[in-house]
Order: sequence, then C-alpha cells, then structure tokens
Amino acid sequence: MYVIGIMGSPRVNGKCNKLVKSALEGAASCGAEIKNYELIKYTIKYCMGCGTCYHKSPELQIGTCPLKDDVASILKDYVRADGYIFASPVYDMYITALMKTFYERKIALTYRPKEESEKIPGSRAPANFQKKASIILTANCSDEYQEVMGEPCFEAFEGHLMIEMIDSVDRFYVGGVENMGEDTFEKKLREAYQIGIRLVDEIRKSRK
Ligand SMILES: Cc1cc2nc3c(=O)[nH]c(=O)nc-3n(C[C@H](O)[C@H](O)[C@H](O)COP(=O)(O)O)c2cc1C
Repeated sequence: MYVIGIMGSPRVNGKCNKLVKSALEGAASCGAEIKNYELIKYTIKYCMGCGTCYHKSPELQIGTCPLKDDVASILKDYVRADGYIFASPVYDMYITALMKTFYERKIALTYRPKEESEKIPGSRAPANFQKKASIILTANCSDEYQEVMGEPCFEAFEGHLMIEMIDSVDRFYVGGVENMGEDTFEKKLREAYQIGIRLVDEIRKSRK
C-alpha cells in the first residue's frame, strides 16, 4: 500500500503541509508506505498546450511530454500509488498556481483520439475505484465561507479524480488558519491524522 501527498503550498513549513504530513503519518500508522510531494521543490514547467501527451501513444500510462523537467518522474510514481492526499491553500478563491500548473501537466494521464475531440478524455491508467483520495484545503476565511472558498477547489480536484476513476473519501476545509490558536490547530492535525487512517481503511475495503 503506497500513499502519496501532493502538496501545493509554496510554504513547506506552513499549515497546509503540516496537515498533509499528519494525514500521511496516519496512513503510515496503518502500514502504508508514504511520500510527500512538496511541489514547490520540483521543476514544473507550464503546459504549452501542444497536445503531444494528449493525442499520442495511448499505450503509455504517462504519455510523452516534450518538456524536460520533474513532472514525468512524479507522474510515474503517481500511477504507482494506491492512495492520495491532495492539498492546497486557497489562493484567490482557488487552488494555488503551483497546484494548477501541476494539474495542467497531469493531463498527460489522459488520452483522447483527435476524432473524439469534443468528448471528455479517458484515463490512461483508470483506477476502477480501487484507489482513493482525500483532499485538504487551508484558507484564511473561516469555515462558514467553505462554499465560496472551498467548493471551487474541491471541484478542481474531483474533476480529475472522476476521469481517473478514483473515489474521494474525505474533504477537509480548514478555515481561519492564519490566526488559528495552537490548541485548535492541534485538533485539526489530529483530524488530518484520522483522514490518513480512513483513507487506508477505505482502500483496503475496496479490495476485499
Ligand atoms: C496570494 C494569496 C491569496 C489568498 N487568497 C485567499 C482566499 O481567496 N481565500 C482565503 O480564505 N484565504 C486566502 N489566502 C490565505 C491562505 O489561504 C492561507 O494563508 C493559507 O491557507 C495558509 O496555508 P500555509 O500555511 O500552507 O501557507 C490567500 C493567501 C495568499 C498568499
């Protein structure tokens, strides 16, 4: 069982990453191998929209992209994982530009023949709902603003998950982070830990 974090905050010592680490520790406590991709540490170039990955080589799980950077190695590991913790701070009512840049490059995991250009693409590595994902968002606006701040972000993640046939387990919106007291944040970290445990549990259940 392999669970990875895809962490889209540029602040590796920030609250978003602390929550991801806690969730991954929860997964590890159930025996999962874990790795956290702190995206800011990788070279992730902008998708140039050439369509090479999208329209060619359906037999290749991660397609081929003419851009030379760290994305291919992340995607190779991504398709190996059984579970995912996706996390981003809310920036301007959406996921961070860092996460969005990675997400545009993750299009390489989908394939669509040119003659079907008006259809939703298919996954090159459909997970058939045997893989699971949970999503963590941090935001300065409190929990009562989850709908306006969180929903567009959750939907950004869930659109990809739908195409990949990966169920989401938990959606965790942590509002008011910038002025959050230590005790409250400790409680959120414990909730994140439980999210990691539940993720592994749900993956195991789906494989019985
Ligand atoms: C450029 C920028 C835009 C932001 N936009 C929003 C926003 O639209 N809504 C919100 O609730 N918080 C917003 N925030 C606050 C961040 O969500 C918050 O600082 C972050 O979740 C903390 O996570 P971190 O500790 O990992 O940096 C913004 C912060 C920055 C730097």
